[in-house]
Amino acid sequence: MSESTTIRWEQDETGVVTLVLDDPGQSANTMNQAFKDSIAAVADRAEAEKDSIRGIIYTSAKKTFFAGGDLKDMIRLRPEHAQLAFDTGTEIKRSLRRIETLGKPVVAAINGAALGGGYEIALASHHRVALDAPGSKIGLPEVTLGLLPAGGGVTRTVRLMGIADALLKVLLQGTQYNPQRALDNGLVHELAATPEEMLDKARAFIDAHPESQQPWDVPGYKIPGGTPSNPRFAANLPAFPASLKKQLNGAPYPAPRNILACAVEGSQVDFETALTIEARYFTELVTGQTAKNMIQAFFFDLQAVNAGRSRPQGITPRQVRKVAVLGAGMMGAGIAYSCARAGIEVVLKDVTAEAAAKGKAYSEKLLDKALSRGRTTEAGRAELLARITPTADVADLAGCDAVIEAVFEDTALKHKVFQEIQDVIAPDALLCSNTSTLPITGLAEGVKRPADFIGLHFFSPVDKMPLVEIIKGARTGDDAIARAFDLVRQINKTPIVVNDSRGFFTSRVIGQFINEGVAMVGEGVEPASIEQAAAQAGYPAKVLSLMDELTLTLPRKIRNESRKAFEAEGRTWTEHPADTVIDRMVDEFGRPGRSGGAGFYEYDESGRRTRIWPGLREHFAKPGHEVPFEDLKERMLFSEALDTVRCLDEGVLTSVADANIGSIMGIGFPAWTGGVIQYINGYEGGLAGFVARARELAGTYGERFTPPASLVEKAERGETYAD
Ligand code: NAI
Repeated sequence: MSESTTIRWEQDETGVVTLVLDDPGQSANTMNQAFKDSIAAVADRAEAEKDSIRGIIYTSAKKTFFAGGDLKDMIRLRPEHAQLAFDTGTEIKRSLRRIETLGKPVVAAINGAALGGGYEIALASHHRVALDAPGSKIGLPEVTLGLLPAGGGVTRTVRLMGIADALLKVLLQGTQYNPQRALDNGLVHELAATPEEMLDKARAFIDAHPESQQPWDVPGYKIPGGTPSNPRFAANLPAFPASLKKQLNGAPYPAPRNILACAVEGSQVDFETALTIEARYFTELVTGQTAKNMIQAFFFDLQAVNAGRSRPQGITPRQVRKVAVLGAGMMGAGIAYSCARAGIEVVLKDVTAEAAAKGKAYSEKLLDKALSRGRTTEAGRAELLARITPTADVADLAGCDAVIEAVFEDTALKHKVFQEIQDVIAPDALLCSNTSTLPITGLAEGVKRPADFIGLHFFSPVDKMPLVEIIKGARTGDDAIARAFDLVRQINKTPIVVNDSRGFFTSRVIGQFINEGVAMVGEGVEPASIEQAAAQAGYPAKVLSLMDELTLTLPRKIRNESRKAFEAEGRTWTEHPADTVIDRMVDEFGRPGRSGGAGFYEYDESGRRTRIWPGLREHFAKPGHEVPFEDLKERMLFSEALDTVRCLDEGVLTSVADANIGSIMGIGFPAWTGGVIQYINGYEGGLAGFVARARELAGTYGERFTPPASLVEKAERGETYAD
């Protein structure tokens, strides 16, 4: 019999056993080898001592309930470890199942986050009481790592809420619910305000249900909403909501498809067989490359970024107390909200009091929505709003220890606003600009303290987008970088740090993606195929619609400025095939994008996109010219990957983790790749395979696909990119 080292058995005089999850020496409980042995030992003991047991409560001695699978173990699994992966998962499930079917009431007292494996333990309980702790999250986010919940998560959610709800609410998006929303969506049965209340409620359930069992173990149980009669139902989606179809349509990585198949197949067989099906689909995912990519980017890279690898060492962390946001337009309003949400006092300044008030009204709108969804309270709303002071008066900026400028994209104006305020704010205030294109070094010339001047590039919509790109100018000091880094963390966003360059990292690289899509129009590719290729590659936005949103005159402006800068430096400027398409669209057809009412798409009076402009085919089609669909997808991915390598070569990027995280969180590089550099690492045939394919694309579509020398050399040395 194995020994329980990670689960403490505490039995009270009434016969209630509390299983305290407490992996010694670890900050969180995970489904590691020790847990596998411990839960088996607990199941053995429970069966042996069954007569003295009145009920069982799972709870944890850690801050979180249980963290889920051990990603460090998982990332090491290769196809040859398939059997091991299958067996390990199966053993844990078997033990949980033995406890679940002991014939005694089993309750999960969820004292903190229960994600993945943690929630699966809760699902193997007959009753779930969650402590309503701030920041606590409940759900099965495996899909976001390219996996599926194989600790019984698919099998039990399908039986708990029916296939459609299980897929839509829990499995396919991996939503992480706060306790209240977990209750509203049926993931838990009740909430408790304190740990004592939580345990009291757990005991009360045991008292009231001495013979409890899972609904699915009651004879005659039927899955809510029924099960599809056709086992090949994955191909038969019409019976399912449109939103589900949309999520699966051309999903570029296998997890959602495996989850769907697993849910459907598992719903038609008995519980034990369903668990085996789940293990099979999981094994396929965990030993594959995509899950490794996603785990790497989302977990390890994020750890590297958040641990401050790009933050200069030895500088004492500082918190911002009061921030000046200059410009209350779209970005300024969002930045003000994000800062106020993190507890920072905000002075929101615009040219008129009305414009500033309008910026604050944006926070009101977001808060009203949050209130209606139960994500804040009246008091929380009022507190946050009280932190934002709209103004047109520079004097109100007194005492601000940081400034974030978000006025129009104009160097002279940006110089002017910094001059207006620099003597009013705190004498050592951090000076940040949210410019999306203007070089930071040039902007810093307009301030008295260029060492304290830095780029803080937010993404739109600010309240939703998790990334902030920090840009060092030539004269930016280490102290400013550290403070900017701390500020980004303070507002709960993820920082990457890059060196000053035209378009920095994100704008520059996403520009390659857009240019590539636009160039395809010029080659006469069917526009719908271009959009489809972007979607199937896994991009969240279709390329031509994205160009329309950003406005076609923007790349023209950037191009003209870049050309001037290149010529001034004596470098040769190369035209991109997208340039002529954009020029024709704007000059010849008068279609500058959505804001102008017409672009690659047509728009109705309310600004809603109606259809792709039929003129594209008429003016650009080249009958008989075929571009393979695979090339369309890879051209988008390669154009961004190759430019990222150039960013590393030029020192714009200094870390692979920043590239991977920045590409996924900032510019929508497909998440299944694990990030833009991981895409190169994981390409079929490794770096050599990537180089060969890039050369092939260069031969057919142009020099821009020629792999940089550094990449070729790395490939020849048999290396991959690592930090
Ligand atoms: P916007 O046009 O919505 O807002 C600009 C605001 O600045 C207006 O409310 C205007 O009244 C105000 N303003 C002008 N002169 C001012 C002055 N002297 N003092 C105070 N306020 C003044 O522009 P948006 O989109 O918010 O962009 C602002 C900045 O953020 C630009 O530099 C832009 O390049 C950058 N950015 C924009 C992104 C986007 O997606 N729109 C993304 C990232 C950065």
